[in-house]
Amino acid sequence: MAEVPHRFGGDWTADKLERVAKYLSAYATIMNRQHFRFAYIDAFAGTGYRTLRPNDEPKQLMFPELAEEESQQFLEGSARKALQVQPRFHKYIFIEKDEHRFQALTSLRIEFPHLADDIVLVNAEANSYLQDMCDNRNWKQHRAVLFLDPYGMQVEWQTIEAIARTQAIDLWLLFPLGIAVNRLLRRDGKIDPAVRNALNRLFGAEDWHETFYQTKKGIGLFGPETHTHKVGDFDAIARYMIGRLQTVFPGVAENPLPLFNSRNNPLYLLCFAAGNPRGAKTAVKIAQDILKR
Ligand SMILES: C[S@@+](CC[C@H](N)C(=O)[O-])C[C@H]1O[C@@H](n2cnc3c(N)ncnc32)[C@H](O)[C@@H]1O
Repeated sequence: MAEVPHRFGGDWTADKLERVAKYLSAYATIMNRQHFRFAYIDAFAGTGYRTLRPNDEPKQLMFPELAEEESQQFLEGSARKALQVQPRFHKYIFIEKDEHRFQALTSLRIEFPHLADDIVLVNAEANSYLQDMCDNRNWKQHRAVLFLDPYGMQVEWQTIEAIARTQAIDLWLLFPLGIAVNRLLRRDGKIDPAVRNALNRLFGAEDWHETFYQTKKGIGLFGPETHTHKVGDFDAIARYMIGRLQTVFPGVAENPLPLFNSRNNPLYLLCFAAGNPRGAKTAVKIAQDILKR
């Protein structure tokens, strides 16, 4: 058992991990017929066990015995899942910023002794590590699948761009659709400068405001007035993000999967983008199939 407390997310967490694992297996099967060295990179690796997202399932939090019961089943997180995928990858790179969670990851080498020499553990901030890795390594003979599974808005657009520039990395991205973005897009469009900057960093663009808001001019009691209101719903936000990914990747799955909590609110959007122009068509076809509801 990991020493760091671990709790659980809803069924959508299991669903998400199953779908990514399916892709990993299909990917490794295809890559084994080619000459590349290929890695699985998990940049928000956690402890290796599943952890609960804050503010996610308050109902379940109110019944801690439920969490207790689930956690006693030692639910596997993305790292453990990836290490079990067949066929295996040549390398596994797990990145985790939190020192305690990072320490818990070291037990993976003990649990998977046959893979131990190929497990690389990195205690670092994901954006800076990935940007450096993408820009300063030679990707000619290397390929990777990268899973970005943050709680919130931690992934910067600059990181997405660096990933795409390698033309060697397929990306699975958990986009914080309902948990963060939709909440920050206030109905009246009055977005605080700090929030505006955070959204700019996430989207790598500033035109989201005109996409998600409509401003109407009218005549009020005291003369001309403008009135701004939100027109961007969950679908519009999802389409916008897919559009952003399409500006840098040669292939993007057009059916990203919304992950709903028990109250039927979309928390996240599971997205896929293919890195290599030659492999993109096949990769997207496989991912789109996996993403079907
Ligand atoms: C949702 S959890 C990951 C869950 C994991 N993929 C799993 O299936 O078990 C997000 C993790 O990212 C870590 N984290 C948050 N910000 C980070 C950052 N900027 N760089 C690297 N890790 C970060 C958190 O400590 C947390 O463990």
